[in-house]
Amino acid sequence: MKVLIALFVVVFVDVVASQCVCNSMKWAKCDGDPCKCTLQFTDAIQQTIDCTTLIPKCYLMKAEVYRAKKNMSTRSFGGKPAETAFVDNDGIYDPVCENDGKFKAVQCNNTEECWCVNSAGVRRSDKGDKNIKCEPVETYWVRLELKHKEAAVPLDATKLKTGIENAMLQRYKLDKKFVSEVKYDKDGRLIVVDIKKDIGARVPDLSLMTYYMEKDVKVLPLFKDEKAFEVSVEGGTVSMENILVYYVDEKAPTFTMKKLTGGIIAVIVVVSLIVLAGLLVLFFLARRQKAQYSKAQAREMETMS
Ligand SMILES: *[C@@H]1O[C@H](CO)[C@@H](O)[C@H](O)[C@H]1NC(C)=O
Ligand SMILES: *[C@@H]1O[C@H](CO)[C@@H](O)[C@H](O)[C@H]1NC(C)=O
Repeated sequence: MKVLIALFVVVFVDVVASQCVCNSMKWAKCDGDPCKCTLQFTDAIQQTIDCTTLIPKCYLMKAEVYRAKKNMSTRSFGGKPAETAFVDNDGIYDPVCENDGKFKAVQCNNTEECWCVNSAGVRRSDKGDKNIKCEPVETYWVRLELKHKEAAVPLDATKLKTGIENAMLQRYKLDKKFVSEVKYDKDGRLIVVDIKKDIGARVPDLSLMTYYMEKDVKVLPLFKDEKAFEVSVEGGTVSMENILVYYVDEKAPTFTMKKLTGGIIAVIVVVSLIVLAGLLVLFFLARRQKAQYSKAQAREMETMS
């Protein structure tokens, strides 16, 4: 009987202990009763976070910068490719966050040089000095370009869409209604997913699920479980090789036009590829889809004007 009680106590303690963890952020430190989880921003500053939901991207970036400074494991900085004609990739910076975790519209990365960012924290203006004027601008549409790994069986486009909707819901709690379109190019193994909310809508913050997904695909997951992003299609699973994210804002960005080429004007591009192979894919895709992009842009311009 004593053994049984002891066992029971051990199991019980175990269960209680295992509940004070942060499922949505593997770097979080959790402690206490009631359980409280924090994320380290600087040696002195710890941000309390809500682990029942995705953590604001601005917080995650701050934590990443801190960890990188401390030589702790983080995303690979090697992922940033050289500045090329068709991408604008600033990579990571030390952001300033609002009290609710949103990005401040002006960001300076602790320097004298500042720029404007959208609600996803992505630069949407040329760089200027500290007096640069920026207004908050919402990203209402993200386009995810995914390349999937070889699949055993040919994928069916319609079932793929269902699979993606399910995966987004399960892993990122994104309502299916926001998955506005899924296009599939079988030969290129390319999947284009448009996630869109109404102009003017403030929820959901699309940058959250995008950032988590980006990290999942790059095999640097932010979730505690560290699972890869997988899509179930007809009983099998498909995993992704790389991801490219386009951000579309409610207001067109104010980049100097000549700095943007490759037919992408009203769209801010952030590349999150690890390998050059990804860039090549992008290059061919850009060529192949130039016509499509122009059309999308025309529509975009109409919406914006
Ligand atoms: C981090 O690593 C770099 C290179 O390995 C080293 O120069 C630097 O001193 C390290 N920084 C800390 C805080 O440990
Ligand atoms: C921000 O500053 C860090 C450290 O000085 C630097 O490594 C990084 O490239 C900067 N990021 C941007 C977007 O300027």
